[in-house]
Amino acid sequence: MSKATTRYVCQSCGAAFPKWMGKCTTCSAWDSLAEEVASKPRSATPSSRKAVPASELTADTEVRTPTGIGEFDRVLGGGIVPGAVILLGGDPGVGKSTLLLQALAALAKQGAKTLYVSGEESAGQTAARARRVGTTTSGLYILAETDFESIERNLDELRPRVMVLDSVQTVRVSSTDSAAGTVSQLREVALRLVERAKRDNLTVFLVGHVTKDGTLAGPKVLEHLVDTVLSFEGERGHAYRTLRAQKNRFGSATEVGVFEMSGDGIQEVKSPSAFFLAERPMQAAGSVIAASCEGSRPMLVEVQALVVHGPTSRRTANGVDAGRLAMVLAVLEKKGGLSLAGLDVFVNVAGGMRIDEPALDLPVALAVASSLRNRPVAPEMVAFGELGLAGEVRGVPRASSRLQEAMAMGFRRALVPASTPASAGIDAVGVRHIEHALETM
Ligand code: TYD
Ligand code: MG
Repeated sequence: MSKATTRYVCQSCGAAFPKWMGKCTTCSAWDSLAEEVASKPRSATPSSRKAVPASELTADTEVRTPTGIGEFDRVLGGGIVPGAVILLGGDPGVGKSTLLLQALAALAKQGAKTLYVSGEESAGQTAARARRVGTTTSGLYILAETDFESIERNLDELRPRVMVLDSVQTVRVSSTDSAAGTVSQLREVALRLVERAKRDNLTVFLVGHVTKDGTLAGPKVLEHLVDTVLSFEGERGHAYRTLRAQKNRFGSATEVGVFEMSGDGIQEVKSPSAFFLAERPMQAAGSVIAASCEGSRPMLVEVQALVVHGPTSRRTANGVDAGRLAMVLAVLEKKGGLSLAGLDVFVNVAGGMRIDEPALDLPVALAVASSLRNRPVAPEMVAFGELGLAGEVRGVPRASSRLQEAMAMGFRRALVPASTPASAGIDAVGVRHIEHALETM
């Protein structure tokens, strides 16, 4: 019998070392090595597959089942795919368990047999949550278990079409001699579930905890094994939540789903624009409506700026990238003729939404100028456009769907890059340069 070997595995990147060290030499994480007993290599049966000309193969046709929760389906790429393994990450308390429980219940209502495995809560607690969100159906099975072999036996017996494992960090394969949540355990659990998913056409959702620095704990290793990685995010103190895909083998990775946490579960927000503009102040200096676009979906948000005297010239960005804000302010000073020295600048996307696209440059610049001059912009106007370092206003993708969303929300005027094609029903003024934009606003 071969002697069991001990190794030290980085819980952040999965690199293995023969000796303990304070710092992982692969990913530079401190204090991330944990002792693990190397598992015996699994006896592999030699495979005898042969290469086949691509022209002779028939492509797998994907059958998608919409869950019925529209915002969830949008991010998944239209619905769940049989055999797909999806990892859902997010901070504790953001609503991962609630969202997936509702998704399973919605699928069960359509007649699919579904299984929710909780390693964190008792079956009774999960059932209470199901009742709270109003989802009790006979096709939804609940299992409170942390022993992976027992979960496998339940899967063999029940043969569900969709399962949730909440969370992947709490289960343990007893043949692997390390604690639950370690990299070897995570990898083993994920590998076995991926194998089973492909074999039985089972769709698997894995819930993964997120560490303080916002990365999925351990699961860098998991991200390669699964088909789709989703993250569920929300700002503390705000009821809205966003679901984004970081990787998606079965759809686009740029779509975002918007939800609202309510007293009786998670509700989808079908019109994010209306949601984010609900509390907009009218005729307030420093407030500009931006027509942004997340994936294929246009979304109006309110950009707010406040410019006040401050000896340290502080710059604070909420919801927009701080580096991007610094660039916009530099362009405003050098090319737009504004003087911001000795002033504090605060920029905020109202409602706590985070927007990472250059199309917000122009609205941010206009909001700052509006606050500095203490003059409100026209309330029925939206703006979008990227700023270049020479002060030029550059075109952005999906301009016409941005304008359409603005029209649908009752806006009549727009300040846009000059390259934007005209759109009937809205008076869009094209600008080429930041100076021109500041004059026009
Ligand atoms: P949960 O789904 O348990 O989060 P996660 O699995 O990501 O840790 O949701 C936890 C929070 O959501 C908790 O603070 C209570 C709140 N909540 C509601 O506001 N409404 C509800 O209907 C439910 C079930 C939970
Ligand atoms: Mg949970």
